[in-house]
This record gives sequence, C-alpha cells and structure tokens, in this order.
Amino acid sequence: MKPIAEQWEGVENFQARPDDLLVATYPKAGTTWMQEIVDSIMNDGELEKNKRAPTHVRSPFLEICSLFFPGVDILNNTPSPRLVKTHLPYELVPKSFWEQKCKTIYVARNAKDNAVSYYFFDLMNKCQPEPGTWDQYVEKFLKGEVAWGNWFDHVIGWWNAKDKHEILYMFYEDMKENPKQEIRKVMKFLGKNLSEEALDNICHHTSFKAMKENPMANYSTVPNIVLDQTVSSFMRKGEVADWMNYFTESQNKMFNAEYEKRMKVTDLKFRTNI
Ligand code: A3P
Repeated sequence: MKPIAEQWEGVENFQARPDDLLVATYPKAGTTWMQEIVDSIMNDGELEKNKRAPTHVRSPFLEICSLFFPGVDILNNTPSPRLVKTHLPYELVPKSFWEQKCKTIYVARNAKDNAVSYYFFDLMNKCQPEPGTWDQYVEKFLKGEVAWGNWFDHVIGWWNAKDKHEILYMFYEDMKENPKQEIRKVMKFLGKNLSEEALDNICHHTSFKAMKENPMANYSTVPNIVLDQTVSSFMRKGEVADWMNYFTESQNKMFNAEYEKRMKVTDLKFRTNI
C-alpha cells in the first residue's frame, strides 16, 4: 500500500470523464469477471474485440502505482470510453467520478469466500506481504489488516452510497446462480440492448472455464515474479461456498460472532451458499 500512499495526490486529483465506467470491488469479489462482462457489452457482444489486450490494459487499475500497472498514467492516456477498475472504499474514490456523474458497478462477495480467495491471492501475489497461516489470516481479515482495509467498511460504505449516485450494486453469488439474468442487468444499466444470442455468447465467454483458459483474462501475461501462478492460479476455483473447505468449526464460530456484530448496522445481506 506504500506506493499508493506515496502517489495519492495523483489518484485523489484524477480527472474522470462523463463516459467513464467504474468497476469497484473489495479485492477478490469478482472484479475481473465483471470487467470481462462490461467489456463484452461495451463491444456490443463482438467478442473478438475482447482479445485486443489483457484485462489490466483494457480496464486499467486506478490507484495502483507499480511498475507493471501505473494506473493514473495509463488512464490519462486511454481514449474514451474508459473502463476503470478500483478497489477503493467509497469515501476515497476521486470526487471527479461523482462530479461527472459516472456510472459505477460495485460487485460484492460474501465475506467467507472473499477471505479464502484473498488468502490464496496473497500467497501468490508477490507485491503484498506474506499472508501467514490461514488461521492468522482469518483474524487479520476480520480486523481489516489486509490491503484495501476492512471488508465490512467496504461493502457497507458502497451499499450506503448506492442511491446517491448511479451505482449498480451486484453480488457474486447472484452472478454464479444466474449469469444471464445478471449480465442482462448490467446491459440495461449500460443502456445497451443486445440480442439473446449475443447475451448467450457473453455468458459463455465470461464463464469461469472460458476465462480460466483465456490468456487475455487469466493474468497469465503478468510475470511470475509479480503473480506467481505456480503457487495458486488467479482463476482459482470460482465457486460459492468454497469457504466450507477451509474454515474450521472454531474459526467459523469466531467469524460468525464478529460478522453479526459488524452487520447489525445494515440491511445488506449476503448468501454464503446458493
Ligand atoms: P476464487 O479465488 O474463489 O477462485 P478478482 O477478479 O476480484 O480478483 O476476483 C477473483 C476471484 O473471482 C477468484 O475467486 C476467481 O476465480 C473468481 N472469478 C474470476 N472469473 C470468474 C468467473 N468467470 N466466474 C466465477 N468466478 C470467477
């Protein structure tokens, strides 16, 4: 997070354009999946166009400042319409996005699956600190001692903001359960009207299996010294309720107790199984 903090001024003063589309998530909630869906819709279902470049080039990462992804610089040189990715909590999103009335799609994922996915990502992401054991990680996750902070603050902050701006709040679990319905929701939000055939093709193109095999979506173009996919694949499992394979009974109890406490303040509800 240090490089982001050091270059924060550039992020804070970022100039959004009215036709920017922001995809916002807590890390590992389904960002890449939504980016692929949105790019497919923006290309009117002409999926050959999605092959033009890897995800992080087609949809640059706003606040990241590493050598491989200098977010703000890339975005400043990207022609409109731009598809912008961010993991920022609502409060830290550059104000210009709201001044320009940009559309935003937020994807949220249940905390348990989100934590498992983040653990495996932190194991393979060589730009982030070692996550320690899974047992240590569960506690760190609950306390928000991970990159981009606390899951509770993030999902609730965006939930509370959703009616103040043009924000479509989506759930990973819904996307898994009924991808076509959810893709149609995104299409309508973007003001597009694609044929049933195009929607079916997008469903297929953005399925877990297809994206796992797609070098323009699976982050295989990023060198192993950054994302070491020999440790864990970026497209790891893509399932709901995988948390059941990792949480012990006592971890689950502890997690549930904290969850209940933190979620009391909101009507936001998640499904941990479908
Ligand atoms: P898992 O680690 O549970 O497999 P992000 O893009 O925000 O980093 O999120 C990555 C998570 O989304 C990973 O979860 C990844 O496998 C999953 N994912 C990516 N594309 C997907 C798809 N098309 N369908 C379902 N899950 C997908």
